[in-house]
Amino acid sequence: MNKSLKPRNYFPLGKAQGYAFCNREMETEWLIGNIEACKHSLLIAPRRFGKSSLAEKALTASNLPTINVNFNTCSDENDVELLIRQGISQLIGRTFGSVDKLINSIKTYVTHLTPKISIGPEFAHLELFSNQQNNSAIHVEESLSLMEKLLAEKNAHAVIVFDEFQMVGLIAKGSGVEAAIRNVAQDMKHLAIIFSGSNRSLLQLMFEDEGRPLYKICRKLRLKRIEPSHYQKHLNHAAQLAWKKNLDETVFEQIMLLSERHPFYVNYLCDVIWTECAAIPTKSDVIRAWNTVIDEEASDANAEIATLSMGQKKLLKYIANYSGDQLMSANTIKILGMALSSIAGALTGLIEKDLIEKENETYQIINPVIHCLLKESVAVT
Ligand SMILES: Nc1ncnc2c1ncn2[C@@H]1O[C@H](COP(=O)(O)OP(=O)(O)OP(=O)(O)O)[C@@H](O)[C@H]1O
Ligand SMILES: [Mg+2]
Repeated sequence: MNKSLKPRNYFPLGKAQGYAFCNREMETEWLIGNIEACKHSLLIAPRRFGKSSLAEKALTASNLPTINVNFNTCSDENDVELLIRQGISQLIGRTFGSVDKLINSIKTYVTHLTPKISIGPEFAHLELFSNQQNNSAIHVEESLSLMEKLLAEKNAHAVIVFDEFQMVGLIAKGSGVEAAIRNVAQDMKHLAIIFSGSNRSLLQLMFEDEGRPLYKICRKLRLKRIEPSHYQKHLNHAAQLAWKKNLDETVFEQIMLLSERHPFYVNYLCDVIWTECAAIPTKSDVIRAWNTVIDEEASDANAEIATLSMGQKKLLKYIANYSGDQLMSANTIKILGMALSSIAGALTGLIEKDLIEKENETYQIINPVIHCLLKESVAVT
């Protein structure tokens, strides 16, 4: 047996790779197709739904040089520029290997950046320095354009992943950085960009508002929960490995019910079950394991709930205990004792904080632990 093929490795809390990656075949094909055609892509999904795992799977299959730039810690447009500049320097190294032979080409392609070759212990690498401060947009445009031109010269291809890209919209809006990305991205034939992020309302504003530079620049994918039938096959593989049996149908359904098919919590719950059960699990084993998950995650979930306004808490409790439907109806207004405008404001706040999502015309709480904690408090007070 493959040494790494241990049942618990089926359920990582970090990126799902190899046999831990369940299905998402259509999404993977879609992304590989975009990469191969050099079409830019936007992956939108709530936190911990599998964006990075999917991007990595498609990138591994495409076998192209790639770099991941994560904007999570950026605080202004200068940070954004620095990360892009550093990302492009590294990507040039990954794509072309020895950078010293490229220096003449690089010099002809840049005017606002200064390329320098640093000799490291093992190999030489490129650094791009910016000539003037406060010119982030120009430096971003020149960095991306440099990569595209070098790739075109060698008829090569590469991919850059812009992760947590909503941060760019949040902190660098109006700085010209988004417009700079558009200027180069719209004509790229060799460098594909994968934009990814978890704050859907911010990303929607950046990519779906006609007034914003990145409007209609890429193909979009809203990553959904994984289908039960795909999970069933996946979990039964792991069950065969651990107990040489398939899961009982009711046990499988209980796992789907409690985790609400949130990919991170499916893995969390299954990791507890597969660790604690010496024999094929029963429904009560699943419930016990879910209580362990709740115990471990409650403080994080409560901290998130504590950041909400009173109106947002009330509405979230209502969704957890009653329904995510007809939130603006006279009946809901009566039960909540809130004005229509207050409900509308709370709803927008919950969407922006990525706590609820709309599926089939009904609002749903994204995190099953938060859902579970709020369900305990039956009264809407
Ligand atoms: N295709 C998949 N099959 C099984 N588990 C998956 C799959 N995709 C993601 N997961 C699991 O879901 C969780 C989140 O995955 P990942 O880090 O890829 O998501 P993300 O959307 O990039 O998260 P973040 O918002 O934190 O960046 C992890 O536990 C991962 O193992
Ligand atoms: Mg991620």
